[in-house]
Amino acid sequence: MRSERMLNIALPKGRLGERVYGIFESAGLGVPSVNDGGRRLTFEDADVGVRYFWVKPSDVAIYVERGAADLGVAGKDILLEYRPDVYELLDLGIGKCRMASAGKADFNSYYDSGEFPLRVATKFPNIARDFFASRGRSIDIIKLHGSIELAPLLGLSDIIVDIVETGETLRENGLIVIEDIVEISARLIANKASHKFDFERIEGVVGSVAKIKEKK
Ligand code: PRP
Repeated sequence: MRSERMLNIALPKGRLGERVYGIFESAGLGVPSVNDGGRRLTFEDADVGVRYFWVKPSDVAIYVERGAADLGVAGKDILLEYRPDVYELLDLGIGKCRMASAGKADFNSYYDSGEFPLRVATKFPNIARDFFASRGRSIDIIKLHGSIELAPLLGLSDIIVDIVETGETLRENGLIVIEDIVEISARLIANKASHKFDFERIEGVVGSVAKIKEKK
C-alpha cells in the first residue's frame, strides 16, 4: 500500500464519463469496482492511489476549482461559460461537438439588421454575450436550462446559442446553424494547489493519459 494520499478524480457522469474512465484505466489507473454498477458515487483503490467520483458534468469544474478533486474532466463549453480558476492540462479529443448560433431558416434579416437587441435563448449566457460583443451586436439573453431548440419555434427568442453534435436536434426542429462559435471537446483539468504540491504525480498522470490518447 502506498503512503501518499489518494489522488481524487472527478468524472462526468454518463456516456462521456465512461469513455474517460476507459482512458484512465488504459493509462494504468483502473479501479475495477467502478464497473460494479449500483448507485455508489465513489470508487477507490489504495494500491493504485486513486479515488474516482461521478459528478454531474457541469459540476466537475466546481469540485476541481475548490480542491474537492485534484483532477477532473470537463467540457470546454463548461470551462468557457463558468471560467473556473483551474489549469487546463490536456485536450482528450473526445466528446467533440461545437457551440453554434442557430435559428429558423428565415431569420437572417433579424440577425443582420442590428436595429434591435437580438433575443438569444441559451444555457450559455457568457459564451453568447462574449460572441455577440465581439461582433458589436446587442442581444437580450434568455437563460434556459434545456430544450433550447423550442425557443425560436414558439417565438420566445429570435435565435439560440447551443451545442450541436450531430445536428439532428436542429434538423428535426426545422432550425439551421447560422454561425459556428467554438469547437468543444473534453479537457483534463487540475486544481491549481494540487498541481503545485503534487506536481510529479499529476504530470505523470497527464503523460500516461496523453500516451493513451495518441494510441486511440
Ligand atoms: C444537447 C444540446 C442539443 C443537442 C445537440 O442537448 O443542447 O439540444 O444535445 O445534439 P445533436 O446535434 O446531436 O442533436 P441535451 O441532450 O444535453 O439536452 P438539453 O438541451 O435538453 O439539456
